[in-house]
Amino acid sequence: MSLKVLVIGGGAREEAIRAAVSKSPLCAKVVFSDAENPDLVILGPEQPICDGLADFYRSNGIDCIGVSKKFSQLESSKLTAKMFMANNGIKCAKLLPVEYPEFPQVVKMDGLCKGKGVKVVYNQKEKDLFTRKISPNRYFIEEYLEGEELSVMSYFYNGRLINFKPARDFKRLSAEKDSPNTGGMGAYCPVTLSKIQQEKLNIYLKKLETALIKEGADFNGFIYSGLIWARDDWYVLEYNVRLGDPECQAILANLKNDFLDILLNGTEPEYKSGTGACLTVAAEGYPDKPVKGDEIIIPENDAVIAYKSGVREENGKLFSNGGRVLSLCVNAENPFPVLKEYAEKIVMAHKYYRKDIDIN
Ligand code: AMP
Ligand code: GLY
Repeated sequence: MSLKVLVIGGGAREEAIRAAVSKSPLCAKVVFSDAENPDLVILGPEQPICDGLADFYRSNGIDCIGVSKKFSQLESSKLTAKMFMANNGIKCAKLLPVEYPEFPQVVKMDGLCKGKGVKVVYNQKEKDLFTRKISPNRYFIEEYLEGEELSVMSYFYNGRLINFKPARDFKRLSAEKDSPNTGGMGAYCPVTLSKIQQEKLNIYLKKLETALIKEGADFNGFIYSGLIWARDDWYVLEYNVRLGDPECQAILANLKNDFLDILLNGTEPEYKSGTGACLTVAAEGYPDKPVKGDEIIIPENDAVIAYKSGVREENGKLFSNGGRVLSLCVNAENPFPVLKEYAEKIVMAHKYYRKDIDIN
């Protein structure tokens, strides 16, 4: 079997998926459009998945990796996700009355919000400021949980769940407490868990598998569980119906066996020693108003790969053209110093990356 594979999506995550797929002996060619008649389509971002593109391909006889429209509501409707969890004994933060007077608490908008739909609020003023822009039937309030967060990517394949090793991402723009949420400033995989955390994670993942089967999941696609360790157990903060960006890059850097073989044949993932990690090079001003148009020069390096996201090419030169510009990836015993040293060498007048992040 040697397939033409189309990966939909234009970010660093999709670049990393294309690189992983093109290394596979099962792949004849990575193609860039439907016109090239792909044998397999892998959907990267949530929007096409929530629009039902996976169902569309499958109903046209094209093998597609992507959650069905019905199950994509786990991401596109946080209330649907809450119901799914309640029906299946999966722990999550408690819903609170809209006028709940104690703080902190968490305001969550229903619907796809590109990471801007959640706010932890510490007082009534902050709550009013955030909620006044949202119509009252579009958000809910839940209890604030405090603890370590963990991103677990799973692949639902032929009615069973294949789980990748846990990863962690750095969502905030800087180390400061009130720093804005971003699409992700870095990530690493695996995360070392205590014995009890690993046991509870296994229990949770079994529950998730049982729930998907019980509710009739009939797709091959990725489910991302955003978890938090609280009250000695894992609580689900969110579901996504795709691989995380940048967690995907960190996982793929650490993965030893053939990613496409996992996707096509349900092979169990195997890992290299060391840690896979990625560091986002963003443009100054990100996330609100990133400076665009800087020329970028990326030095050659055998170990570090630089996947492009907010980059434009013109006459053989590269220019910054978005908020998150590059995703630097490596697998190493101690990856973040390697990535930061490399980021320092990249030429880009308004570059910004987090110098503080490390394995924790
Ligand atoms: P979400 O998009 O639901 O994962 O939320 C984005 C971020 O908001 C999470 O990664 C957490 O840092 C934070 N968050 C969401 N829900 C809660 C919660 N119930 N308690 C504490 N923090 C939360
Ligand atoms: N890294 C978080 C996400 O992909 O939603």
